[in-house]
Amino acid sequence: MAASRKKDKLAVAARSPRPRRDSARLGPGRNRIYCGDAAAVLAKLGDGSVDLAVTSPPYDNLRDYQGYSFDFDGICSQLYRVLRKGGVLVWVVGDRIAGGRSLTSFRQGLAFQDLGFSMHDIMIYRKKNTPFMRSNAYTNCYEFMFVLSKGRPRVFRPIMEKTKRSGMEMLVHNKKSDGINKKTLAELKPEKTRTNIWDYAVGLGGTTCDRFAFKHPAMFPEKLAQDHILSWSKPGDLVLDPMCGSGTTCKMAAANGRDYIGIEISKEYAAIARRRMAGIQKRISAQP
Ligand SMILES: C[S@@+](CC[C@H](N)C(=O)[O-])C[C@H]1O[C@@H](n2cnc3c(N)ncnc32)[C@H](O)[C@@H]1O
Repeated sequence: MAASRKKDKLAVAARSPRPRRDSARLGPGRNRIYCGDAAAVLAKLGDGSVDLAVTSPPYDNLRDYQGYSFDFDGICSQLYRVLRKGGVLVWVVGDRIAGGRSLTSFRQGLAFQDLGFSMHDIMIYRKKNTPFMRSNAYTNCYEFMFVLSKGRPRVFRPIMEKTKRSGMEMLVHNKKSDGINKKTLAELKPEKTRTNIWDYAVGLGGTTCDRFAFKHPAMFPEKLAQDHILSWSKPGDLVLDPMCGSGTTCKMAAANGRDYIGIEISKEYAAIARRRMAGIQKRISAQP
């Protein structure tokens, strides 16, 4: 069914459970999952009202998300408008592989530039467990994570990881034309900024522990959403997922003290997202 034939359900969108923080501080419409077409719902959000968007579009009709269509230009020009200056859009996308790669990802990357976004980084989401898929090429195990920004990113809080060696060591340096290696005592740091290739296990326990959410055919891992939220936003910021599917981004935004808005065109998936939000709100409320 075409998106245009679906009524905008914004007015009747069910409320997610009570937000954790004082609702008087929240802008209108925050902390809700809206069931409707992304372009239509986004049109109701104010200019520059969103701090971060993390999303994954339907691509190449790879899966049947209950037959809904997706208007790249309509949704992405609205996304540019609603993002604040310095805001970031994380776009997780792959290509259909059938006799070769569709290159939809590349085409979209170029289209984002035409819309005014800066391609701040092209990161890789590597799936730790992928089934063998092609007889004449290596098994594809990744999707792109385009980090698009509206101007210079306002927030970057890099995730750090432990280095293999740390402490004081004699380090080789200054190998000049005399060929002699010189050594000096220097400190190796215990942590370094992660690389831009991120690995996640997929499936039950990896993607999520919410068993019921697997009725959605293409979730991304909770940890992926969380890592981007921690990297590109601050507590209290508004995080948007305009095609939120089972609500992964919204769940991780709430779990990390951010406000959220989720938009999903399918009633069934929006119901899954609301159920996940109810679960996380319950866990948050139970915390001392
Ligand atoms: C790749 S899935 C997103 C999955 C999500 N990241 C998660 O973890 O569950 C893309 C979603 O976009 C939804 N969708 C497709 N067209 C849409 C539109 N025009 N407006 C809003 N959502 C749409 C589909 O129903 C589908 O659930």
